[in-house]
Amino acid sequence: MKITLTKQPKQKPDFSKLGFGKYFTDHMLVMDYKDGAWGEPEIVPFEPFEMSPASNVLHYAQGIFEGAKAYKNEKGEITVFRIDDNFIRMNNSATRLCMPTFDAKVVKDALFELLKIEKDWIPTAKGTALYIRPTMIANQPVLGVHASHVYKFFIILSPVGSYYANGLEPTKILVEEKYVRAAIGGTGEAKCMGNYACSLIGGEIANQKGYDQCLWLDAAEHKYVEEVGSMNMFFVIDGVVITPALVGSILPGITRNSCIQVLKKYGYKVEERRISMDEVYDAYKSGKLNESFGSGTAAVISPVGTIGYHGEDMLINNGEMGPITKFLYDKITGIQNRVEPDEFNWVTKVN
Ligand code: COI
Repeated sequence: MKITLTKQPKQKPDFSKLGFGKYFTDHMLVMDYKDGAWGEPEIVPFEPFEMSPASNVLHYAQGIFEGAKAYKNEKGEITVFRIDDNFIRMNNSATRLCMPTFDAKVVKDALFELLKIEKDWIPTAKGTALYIRPTMIANQPVLGVHASHVYKFFIILSPVGSYYANGLEPTKILVEEKYVRAAIGGTGEAKCMGNYACSLIGGEIANQKGYDQCLWLDAAEHKYVEEVGSMNMFFVIDGVVITPALVGSILPGITRNSCIQVLKKYGYKVEERRISMDEVYDAYKSGKLNESFGSGTAAVISPVGTIGYHGEDMLINNGEMGPITKFLYDKITGIQNRVEPDEFNWVTKVN
């Protein structure tokens, strides 16, 4: 693999004040597709791409991405969490967006080389990681609406802390009742750029009203809980953990799947099914809504303290992190940081 190292390494940020996605490492991985085939991956300095203003991703959003994380322990050992699942999902997203799939093994090996080069950028404090952002864009300068024949795949890396400014403090979420994120048959289950663009308005409305995020409902009836956009949703009702079933319009979250596997193994009752906001509200009114949390690579396990619905704020578990949320947070971050045994075979060593 061709590797070109930067002549101007950047000054690293203060790892105790990272936030999310604000800093980028010195190098990135790039791989180009043309004439019906992917070229070799290459490691190059992190710098702007040159692309035509007519490039089709800029007009028709034929673009997909992933989010994964790498960790480093005090011995300098680098690991990644469930990275194969990210590449499987990315290839599924590629197929949905009429983009070429790629050889996950080739990309994983190249990513591992990049991580070794960037090892000093991996923060080690609790709650921090090196965020991995694989991305694929259509890159043909043509305005006809059809699948591109030219693509660019790249991976950038960003040292991160918690996704939410207030860390693990329970978030406030507003149910969005007018706009929708995705309909069945659409692209909701693909990790494509357009899903995030169309969901911005819900976040803006929620922020204006003093909430952190919005909760999307299904497109057909505006009745069933879907997801938050940056997280999948879970509710604990009368001791049972319920998460919306993957009906086609919801992102099949890797952390969501990790939560389900951990909960089942540890004897919790888990239901993957459609759950309406009315059911959540009734459970709240009858004192049976014990906990709620979101899951995601960036968000990890984020407690939800308040859900705004029909002009009323439902305060969940007194606005505090509940015991099942805490159990999952500790177990999953414990496995990621290798302070808990890797009982599900989710961790891969890089060096
Ligand atoms: C992730 O959790 O990795 C995501 O991609 C969600 C968000 C940051 C866009």
